[in-house]
Parts: sequence; C-alpha cells; structure tokens
Amino acid sequence: MIFERRQFLAGAAIALSPFNSAAAQILPGPGYGTPLGTSPFAPDVYRARRAQLMAQLKTGLAVIHGATAADAPDNTLLAPFTQNGDFAWLTGIMDEPGAILVLAPGEAAVKEFLFLPSRDIEMERVTVERLPLGSLIEQRTGIQRVQRSTRLGGLVTQLATRAKDLHFLGPVVSATAPVPETLELYGRIAARVPGTSIRDQSGLLTALRSVKEPRELDLMQKAMTATRAGHLAAMRGVKPGMTERQLRRLLEEGFANAGGTGLSYNSIVAAGRNAASLHYITETGPIRDGDLVLIDAAASVGRYACDVTRSFPANGRFAPAQRADYELVLAAQAAADSRLKAGVTFEELDEAARQVFRRTGRIDEFYHGLGHYVGLDVHDPFDRSKPIPAGAVITIEPGLYAHSANQGIRIEDQYLVTATGSERMSAGIPRSVAEIEAAMRGKAG
Ligand code: GLY
Ligand code: MN
Ligand code: MN
Repeated sequence: MIFERRQFLAGAAIALSPFNSAAAQILPGPGYGTPLGTSPFAPDVYRARRAQLMAQLKTGLAVIHGATAADAPDNTLLAPFTQNGDFAWLTGIMDEPGAILVLAPGEAAVKEFLFLPSRDIEMERVTVERLPLGSLIEQRTGIQRVQRSTRLGGLVTQLATRAKDLHFLGPVVSATAPVPETLELYGRIAARVPGTSIRDQSGLLTALRSVKEPRELDLMQKAMTATRAGHLAAMRGVKPGMTERQLRRLLEEGFANAGGTGLSYNSIVAAGRNAASLHYITETGPIRDGDLVLIDAAASVGRYACDVTRSFPANGRFAPAQRADYELVLAAQAAADSRLKAGVTFEELDEAARQVFRRTGRIDEFYHGLGHYVGLDVHDPFDRSKPIPAGAVITIEPGLYAHSANQGIRIEDQYLVTATGSERMSAGIPRSVAEIEAAMRGKAG
C-alpha cells in the first residue's frame, strides 16, 4: 500500500537472506572488483536508455546522483547497499556507492561521464575491492568517460559555461527532507556561471521508467512465478499454533526455491489484529485458530520487484463474517480493475474502489492509497493525476482494517496495463474464497 506523501519517494528493493543480491547475475570479468558491470542487462541497454533521455533533453546538462554509502546503515552486514531506481535504470551500476552520472546531450563528442569516489584501500579491506580507473571500467559500464568525483565540479562548471540549462530529473522530495545533492550542486554552479538556469524535468524519468520494456516484463514475470510459489507454500503450510516468523520462513523459502533472487521489500506476515497495522514487520506474534493471516510479500529477480498481498484463514476456512468482509474488499478491487486500461488515472481508480466502501458505510476502515507503479522499485515513481500508459505495471490493493475487530484484510494484485484493459500478472495466486480454500485443502500435514 502507499500513502499520499510517498508518491514521489522511490522505495528500495532489499536483498536479504536466503537470497543473494542481484550481483548473482553478473559474471565477473578479468580483475574482479567493482563496478562489476551493468546489471541485470548488458551495457548497450543502458546506453540506449540514456540516448532516449538525451534526445528529449536536446541541450544543456543533467547530473544524476546514485545512492551514497550514507544512504545505507554503517554496518553493511545488516543491509547491503541498494542503488536508487533512477540511477539503476540509467546505468545498471548497482555496486558503487556515490557514483554520479553527467549527461551533456548538446556536446559534439563526449556526452556521458561517470564519476566514482576515489579509492580507499583501507575501506576495501572491509567492503569490496574497487577497480582503478582505466579502460576496464569503461568497458564494463559502457560509459564514455569515467573519472574520480574530485573532478566533478570542474567538469560541470566547464560544461555549464556552454550549456546553460541545468536539467533536474528529480525526484522531488518533501520540503522537510534534505535538499537533493543535484540541486545543491546546481545552486553552486548557478552562483558561479552567469546565465545558467535550473530546468524542472522531474517528470521525464518517471515517464520513461513507467513504460516497461519486454526484457523488464520478462524479469517481473519470473519474479511473479517465484512470488506465487512462496504464497502457495505459505497457504499450504500455515497451521494454527505457528508463529508469524515460522510462516515467513516457509514463504521466503518458497520464493528462493522457485528462482527468486531477492525480496522486493521486507515481507509482512501478520496474523489477527497485527494485520490491521499496515507495515507490521515485528513477526513475533502467534497464529491462532480463527485468525485471518495477511501476507504482503514478493520475490524479486535481477532487482525487478513484484508486490502481492493475500489474506487467508489460518485454519483453511473463512468464517461467515470474515468471508463477507473479504468479498467486500474483493468487490472494491473489482470496481477499480474493471476500469483499468491505458488512459485512466489512479485518482479515477481510487474513487471507484472507495465508492464500494462508502456505499456500505465502511470507508473509514480503508486508510491508505489504492496502489502504485512497480518496477525496479516496489514503489516506482508516479503521478496519481496523470493517465496511466500502456506498458505500465501497477498494483490495485484495497483493504479493510480494524484493530478492534482483531482483523486486517488486504488484497493486492499486480497488473500490466494495455490499450484495451489489463493483464493480471498475479493471476496464478489463489484469490477468491473458493480458490483460497481449495488451495488450502491441499495443505501438507
Ligand atoms: N508492499 C508494499 C505495498 O503494498 O505498497
Ligand atoms: Mn503495494
Ligand atoms: Mn504490497
């Protein structure tokens, strides 16, 4: 689910045990060390994307900052470095904290520069060995010029004296968040190079990333196959008396056994009243007979995310009142999904689902946004008021939550939007009451 304030903020895909990170897909070349290369696709894919972006910018210059080491906790054993979605989409460089891309579409010869932090031999004993500058880096990344970050200021100032437009590609962050590094840099350039101006291009990458390439859909489909296996393993393996954490293990083993290479986000496995807390991840709770269990979890493949939620009875049979509430949520989802096709906005879908809850007097029990885009990030950037294009992948995820009723229900499916309607990518995961109860009758033990 997603809250309004998060619509600009890209989420982070997290790779945790029992998975390896997306680097598993990369074949190390001569001389290990980072950057290992581009991932999950070859350098020419990213070069073509940058060319597409530069064709739209035409002139000027654009600086795009990758995630920094400061974006990760001090202890890299706790959470591995995760590249930000825009930078990952443009470069495929996933393993170099502090990398910065500079694009200069109007320049005659060299149009692409990559800046990497200087090497720190002491740190390399702790984290990973990094490559020296040279042709190997340029070959692995497919970027024309790779230099150390100490030279960034000089180069962008020199470029800005010719190319007066400084394009800001976003993301736009809230007024209380730190000023993005790119805007700080542009501010310093504008103070030194007369005649430069900052251009808002924050919708451009959002639009480019929102239409998925066939190769991206292929990875998302693979991630969905693994996601389905995990959800089925959980539905079949759940037993009253288990803990949420035991069920999470079954779920995530199911993902890994079916080809998942990571998690799209921290799995939410919540029983009974815990399911009414939207981002519950404590997992110490017991699963009781009579509880509904909510699982919001998905595998990823090559960093591509999925996002699926299922709610089901721990004992395999919906009680009549649970069933009535479940079918109300399903009706709200159907109200939105029947309107889904290219050209509709999220605001329209949201209103269609909300009307179902309003008509039945339950609107106060649905307290989050209806859905979001998915891709490299589980929450890909998007604009709720803009028409959804064909080729976008989105979720529709209504819910009903009440701590007082010891219950939370969410049903979340993932859709590929087409010109005439949509394809439900998560269709293979039991969803109706009959499908869920049938899948749970096949329970082991
Ligand atoms: N899994 C997070 C969400 O549904 O948006
Ligand atoms: Mn979601
Ligand atoms: Mn979800």
